[in-house]
Amino acid sequence: MEKIRDAILSGDLAAVAGLDVPDHYRAVTVHADETGMFAGLSTPDKDPRKSLHVEDVATPELGPGEALVAVMASAINYNTVWTSIFEPLDTFGFLRRYGKTSELAKRHDLPYHVVGSDLAGVVLRTGPGVGAWKPGDEVVAHCLSVELEHPDGHNDTMLDPEQRIWGFETNFGGLAELALVKSNQLMPKPAHLSWEEAASPGLVNSTAYRQLVSRNGAGMKQGDTVLIWGASGGLGSYATQFALNGGATPVCVVSSPQKAEICRKMGAELIIDRSAEGYEFWSDEHTQNPREWKRFGAKIRELTGGEDPDIVFEHPGRETFGASVFVTRKGGTIVTCASTSGFMHSYDNRYLWMSLKRIVGSHFANYREAAEANRLIAKGKIHPTVSKVYPLAETGQAAYDVHRNAHQGKVGVLCLAPEEGLGVHNTELRAKHIDAINAFRGA
Ligand SMILES: NC(=O)c1ccc[n+]([C@@H]2O[C@H](COP(=O)([O-])OP(=O)(O)OC[C@H]3O[C@@H](n4cnc5c(N)ncnc54)[C@H](OP(=O)(O)O)[C@@H]3O)[C@@H](O)[C@H]2O)c1
Repeated sequence: MEKIRDAILSGDLAAVAGLDVPDHYRAVTVHADETGMFAGLSTPDKDPRKSLHVEDVATPELGPGEALVAVMASAINYNTVWTSIFEPLDTFGFLRRYGKTSELAKRHDLPYHVVGSDLAGVVLRTGPGVGAWKPGDEVVAHCLSVELEHPDGHNDTMLDPEQRIWGFETNFGGLAELALVKSNQLMPKPAHLSWEEAASPGLVNSTAYRQLVSRNGAGMKQGDTVLIWGASGGLGSYATQFALNGGATPVCVVSSPQKAEICRKMGAELIIDRSAEGYEFWSDEHTQNPREWKRFGAKIRELTGGEDPDIVFEHPGRETFGASVFVTRKGGTIVTCASTSGFMHSYDNRYLWMSLKRIVGSHFANYREAAEANRLIAKGKIHPTVSKVYPLAETGQAAYDVHRNAHQGKVGVLCLAPEEGLGVHNTELRAKHIDAINAFRGA
């Protein structure tokens, strides 16, 4: 592994193809025999630092259409939080089911799960049938692992019945020194970014792009007003940038003055601090409080000069969904990709049907959408939102920060990269955008 790291750091990428692939590597895992470790604890008390291990695992055999990547950096996504607290299900069920689908997929069904759905690194080896990538290529990976043997996926790969999120529903993820991906997950690494900056947009940038911009999601257009929950978080920090970049007006919801300041740094002007406003959308566990929806709607109108959101960018789920449906403008769209606070949503349907609103479900992104989102990063139109970076050995703490909502934007993880700031090639483009690239740093 040292030789691989040294070749990459010295820029001798041509040498990478000639180096031996180690038969084991360091990886962040959860263990199948520990899925009951948090039984009886409430969700906030389940501690990823206890369940995430950093250990040596065997290098998987490389199959057709696949690539083995030397991972320089990765990032924390909320799916690693879900895996680490074994909620809503432990992820070994995904691996078992995947393992039954083919001889090759059997490799994924192991008593440990190497997690992580982002990476920036260098291709080490490619399997039979891979033509678009070769050893030595600097890459990032999106997390759509798809078989495409069924007709359903051929208009939109997210509709394939064998569609999985790499590093969550498959093994050999990106929080590790090596990762196994399908070659059609690879995209060029943006040249003006360091390894940890390039790794961090992958999952959330692609997801926010489909959810907000793509015609498969809300199909945002210039002039739209977009209400964005968690606007300084993983998804929200990209949704806010897409709204600003696309000529829309984001109304950013956050929970502290610090987070409000970050949204201002991105260029947003309309911001609601939900903690300061003290919204209580639920009177008790079973009853919502429409008065609070109205108070929230009035605040949005106060900021927008009387307009309601054309689009509500939803992911908190149960706690906010009733309010989101209420405040959306007549004919507008609530687009949802998650349910962080609970997946059994309830809302007053009169506000949906009488006002001809639409609820759209969105999940990750197809290769085309992920590539379009990555291209915007590479052109310096959308920027990474890394606030803090941990070494691989401290991934548990990094996931803990995200679980406790104590982070901003994205939390990066160094894998083979020995320090931050390495891997930058286009210094001119970087200099042009350096303030935006660093907007979340140390926040
Ligand atoms: N389907 C997909 O493809 C997909 C992809 C990515 C993520 N997700 C899911 O989307 C969710 C968010 O992911 P993320 O990466 O953006 O996480 P994140 O970095 O933790 O950001 C989420 C933000 O949402 C806000 N929030 C959390 N709970 C809330 C609540 N009860 N009410 C209002 N706001 C709340 C918080 O911001 P404030 O405290 O500042 O308000 C938080 O920072 C997770 O459940 C994740 O699993 C799904």
